[in-house]
Amino acid sequence: MSITIKTGDEIDGMRQACRLASEVLDYLTPYVRPGVTTNELDRLAHDYIVNVQQAIPAPLNYAPSGYKPYPKSICTSINHQICHGIPNDRALKNGDILNIDITVIKEGWHGDTSRMFIAGDGSIAAKRLCALTYEAMWIGIAKVKPGARLGDIGHAIQTFAENAGFSVVREFCGHGIGRRFHEEPQVLHYGRPGTLEELRPGMIFTIEPMINAGRREIKQLPDGWTVVTKDHSLSAQWEHTVLVTDDGYEVLTLSAGSPPPPAFIAG
Ligand code: MF3
Ligand code: CO
Ligand code: CO
Repeated sequence: MSITIKTGDEIDGMRQACRLASEVLDYLTPYVRPGVTTNELDRLAHDYIVNVQQAIPAPLNYAPSGYKPYPKSICTSINHQICHGIPNDRALKNGDILNIDITVIKEGWHGDTSRMFIAGDGSIAAKRLCALTYEAMWIGIAKVKPGARLGDIGHAIQTFAENAGFSVVREFCGHGIGRRFHEEPQVLHYGRPGTLEELRPGMIFTIEPMINAGRREIKQLPDGWTVVTKDHSLSAQWEHTVLVTDDGYEVLTLSAGSPPPPAFIAG
């Protein structure tokens, strides 16, 4: 399979799925506090997606080759967990940082987005990591326009993150998305400008940098899914699904509760 170009009704389908994914995060936000368990967040999200949105939580039983089926409806990655954390019965503690990653399927289309949350009062270091990772995602998004290349996105994110003294996870990347959860292309969050695939209107992919406060090396936990930093340093991630338009980009995973873009994003 090569990179699909979405048109007309297909883009409308993606807009709807992506908005719903973002609205799940809006819905969860008031529940993310010290004392809540990630299993409670999973159940809340599952019921909202299925009963209110009449959509499907894409992670549940998702089984890419080499993986066992994912057992929950959302991913919750806490502190030194980088991604694919599996909800469980431990309660969040004051100061925990948490990525919640939501993917819904609506009318056959996938929408994929994640945000960082802080339970209670975060440390200065935790807040800085979350804020800079959000900016790193938007620095990548701002590169998106026809004629630009995937390497431009990766390079912009890597340069920004490393200049801040952080490191970029290499083993996981953004991805094309549509009727399938993970499509071509791979969207690396590091790289060289002017390299890799040229962007064309109608491409839809995610940008989802994983940024570590310490070293970039990862470790895979024996549960087969959870990925953590090898040095146990904090890790943050934000994710949007983005459409390449005729003259730039449209962020599809926006909703009433989305944090505003950083000030350096015009308009
Ligand atoms: N939502 C993740 C991504 O951004 C993928 C999670 S796969 C799962 O690509 F099975 F863990 F849900
Ligand atoms: Co994704
Ligand atoms: Co995701």
